[in-house]
Amino acid sequence: MRKIPIIIDGDPGVDDSFAIALANSCPDFELVALTAVEGNVPAEKTRLNAMGLREALDINCAVAYGAELPLEKAYLSYAEKTHGESGVGTIQWPELKKAPDDRSAWDLIYEEAVKRKGELVLIAIGPLTNIALTLRKYPDFPQYLKRFYIMGGGTFGNVTKQAEFNIWVDPLAAREVFEKLEVHMVGLNVTHASALTEKDFDQMISLCKGENSAIRLLRDLSVFSKRNSLKSGMDNHIIHDALTVASVMDSEVVRYEPYYVYVEDKEGMENVGETVIDLAGQSGNQPNCLVAMEVNQPKFVEMLMEMCRYYATKG
Ligand code: BDR
Ligand code: CA
Repeated sequence: MRKIPIIIDGDPGVDDSFAIALANSCPDFELVALTAVEGNVPAEKTRLNAMGLREALDINCAVAYGAELPLEKAYLSYAEKTHGESGVGTIQWPELKKAPDDRSAWDLIYEEAVKRKGELVLIAIGPLTNIALTLRKYPDFPQYLKRFYIMGGGTFGNVTKQAEFNIWVDPLAAREVFEKLEVHMVGLNVTHASALTEKDFDQMISLCKGENSAIRLLRDLSVFSKRNSLKSGMDNHIIHDALTVASVMDSEVVRYEPYYVYVEDKEGMENVGETVIDLAGQSGNQPNCLVAMEVNQPKFVEMLMEMCRYYATKG
């Protein structure tokens, strides 16, 4: 069977790191590239983390650098409280051997999509700046994409009442992306319902036996997440981004429903950064988005355990 070519665009990130590790453990996927965007931590750190993850997980893929700043937003705020100063908890990268790709994230995403003639699946787990820039530069990009998934949005927010972090960081980019691409939206309403318990983290930690770089990475991320998830106000027990990857791996993990969705991008509006879902069909617009509505949490947790077993067998 031909493998599914995948590009993951993200802002690693603790949960991004779990997501990338999960995708790399999937025998049906060919990871073509990781592309980095600003988000959880500044761009120079998300770039370094993407490069570090490629080597620690031994992924044979390109890494390309993307945007340093949102399209227009004048201010930034990062999520170091959740992800640590470096973005990847307590992990420190050794000296890295491989170089980044010469291309920008948007050139790489477009060229690899064209090369794969409509077979590429793109998964965006950070702010949507790189994807919006791909669409601005290459208006014919949608025709080369098989499917597009995001972690972002949902029916409530985590930065404000209405806005989820990835959308809130670059609402204009998100608005443009929702206008131009069919989006599979894995939002907070399902990621919160997929949260891990302390017992789940203990099981992951006990499965992460061995000293290869991948298993050490997963063990450190799990210990960091468990510890932080016990502190009040921290959402490290929710591995948002990995749920999006899990939903691509297995269509039974998340159930989607089609709706028309737009993003409120006007600064100053109370709900800036909201993914506004036309649940009752009042706009008269055709659905442009598959909205994740329900999650099979035990299945998701079992997939994370299976990922740990996979890397543990590597010695
Ligand atoms: C999203 O925000 C980031 O902090 C996480 O990596 C995830 O992509 C959750 O709102
Ligand atoms: Ca992320």
